[in-house]
Amino acid sequence: MRYVLLFSLLTLGIYANENNIHKDEAIKAINALGKVLKNDLQKYMQQDSSGLAAVGFCTAEAQKITNNVNKKLPANISVRRTSSKVRNTENKKDSLDKWVMLSQYGDGKANHKTTFIVEGEDFTRAYKPLFADKVCLKCHGQNIADPLKKAIDAAYPEDKAVGYKEGDLRGFIVSEVEHP
Ligand code: HEC
Repeated sequence: MRYVLLFSLLTLGIYANENNIHKDEAIKAINALGKVLKNDLQKYMQQDSSGLAAVGFCTAEAQKITNNVNKKLPANISVRRTSSKVRNTENKKDSLDKWVMLSQYGDGKANHKTTFIVEGEDFTRAYKPLFADKVCLKCHGQNIADPLKKAIDAAYPEDKAVGYKEGDLRGFIVSEVEHP
């Protein structure tokens, strides 16, 4: 009996360790994408505080940057952004995204500010929530300045990512590690 218990504790320990490795990999991928996008956004907002240069940059480059970050990651790891209300339809949520949003970050769960990990049978996903600060509101807020609004509408006729207030949950960076 004692041996059985010891054995199961051991295998559990190994399992937990493996999961930690996957979790670490998932968080690293999120940080990699988050860092480049944040640096670039800051750079363009400093160059032109109206946000027009940054909108042009995001429209042209955000997906390319995401692809480049993915190319540098191991083949079993990927990273992207999503939201319940997307600007770019390429960032649309999938069914697991939707479940995480509703069960972990929905109404009444607004204090869930930390990264959420989903442990699948053969994958690990990490969801890092992004909250709107003042800068974000220039392009995702309730009163978007006219030239900016026009540029956004022209590039994204189906834009839903507006109307946010400071501190609102704007979206997520999501990474997935397929277990080898
Ligand atoms: C200069 C305008 C601008 C600013 C400022 C800005 N965004 Fe965006 N955002 C965009 C555009 C344009 C897109 C769509 C292009 C893309 O990134 O794929 C976008 C897309 C996103 C997405 C992907 C989901 C979607 O809606 O398609 C997230 C998440 C996001 N922004 C969060 C933020 C956060 C958080 C901030 C503040 C730190 C911020 N944004 C600031 C213009 C902006």
